[in-house]
Amino acid sequence: MSIKFHDVFYTYLPKSPYEHTALKGVSFEIKDGEFVGIIGHTGSGKSTLVQHINALLLPSSGEIEVDDFLIAPDTKPKGVKNLRKKAGLVFQFPEYQLFEETVFKDIAFGPKNFGVTEQEIRPNVEELMKLLGLDLNYLDKSPFELSGGQKRRVAIAGILAINPSILVLDEPTAGLDPQGAVDTLDLFKKLNKEGKTIVLVTHEMDYVLQYCDKVIVLKDGAIEAFDEPINIFMNRRLLERVGIEAPLVIKIMQQLIDSGMKLNYGKIRDVSSLVEQIIKSRGDCK
Ligand SMILES: Nc1ncnc2c1ncn2[C@@H]1O[C@H](COP(=O)(O)OP(=O)(O)OP(=O)(O)O)[C@@H](O)[C@H]1O
Ligand SMILES: [Mg+2]
Repeated sequence: MSIKFHDVFYTYLPKSPYEHTALKGVSFEIKDGEFVGIIGHTGSGKSTLVQHINALLLPSSGEIEVDDFLIAPDTKPKGVKNLRKKAGLVFQFPEYQLFEETVFKDIAFGPKNFGVTEQEIRPNVEELMKLLGLDLNYLDKSPFELSGGQKRRVAIAGILAINPSILVLDEPTAGLDPQGAVDTLDLFKKLNKEGKTIVLVTHEMDYVLQYCDKVIVLKDGAIEAFDEPINIFMNRRLLERVGIEAPLVIKIMQQLIDSGMKLNYGKIRDVSSLVEQIIKSRGDCK
């Protein structure tokens, strides 16, 4: 399912002393099956933007198309339920998402809301917990007794339980240990290969380079760039302008290129692909 933003503006607390326009004329298209990152300085509007994809926020002006749903300033809550089945949002702060008495009830909440019985959903909940590295002993615990990383995993499982075609993930690896973060991103990549469209907000540029097909760069509520990760990270002026640091592997690669090494940088996504290209270029030199 594709996502199209048409000149979207969003203002918090309009006509109050705290009025703040967080999105300023945002237009872009994410195609069906893409894995797209959204990056930008803190406060640049990333969370505000993604909350429009499942109509949690409605645009102050402009429109959003998610598949055949049209989200406009006057969209009524009634029409939104079906959209939420197709576009699942994992919040930046899992505490906003978790509210049930037990982990089981929290993960089962979405499907139950869409008419599946608790009994029917139980095997699926258990499978999702295993998939996200959550011990089944937590099933009957309160989500509020869990660590930050465990809460995050429960929140992700709760959205996966709905099996949405679009997964919108707002800093899903915050609070996860490094291995947990990579495992979770690998899971998203696998789901992407199976056909889901993924929108990933993150401050981790290594993940953007490694996992994303394209990146939206936000600055002060407007789109500064929309391109493949390698083109974004090779653009030093852009990075300076938006206050973002390139991944370490890119910095090393740029120094090698500056010192005269010929590298096919389009192929570099992580340390092993960099090493591969270095070995290749040395071979070419012989
Ligand atoms: N509920 C709110 N009421 C008023 N202003 C808000 C609200 N939420 C966000 N803002 C403002 O809107 C702007 C964009 O916020 P947003 O949360 O979308 O940024 P972000 O890019 O997700 O930041 P971060 O990287 O810190 O998560 C910020 O200036 C913020 O102060
Ligand atoms: Mg945010």
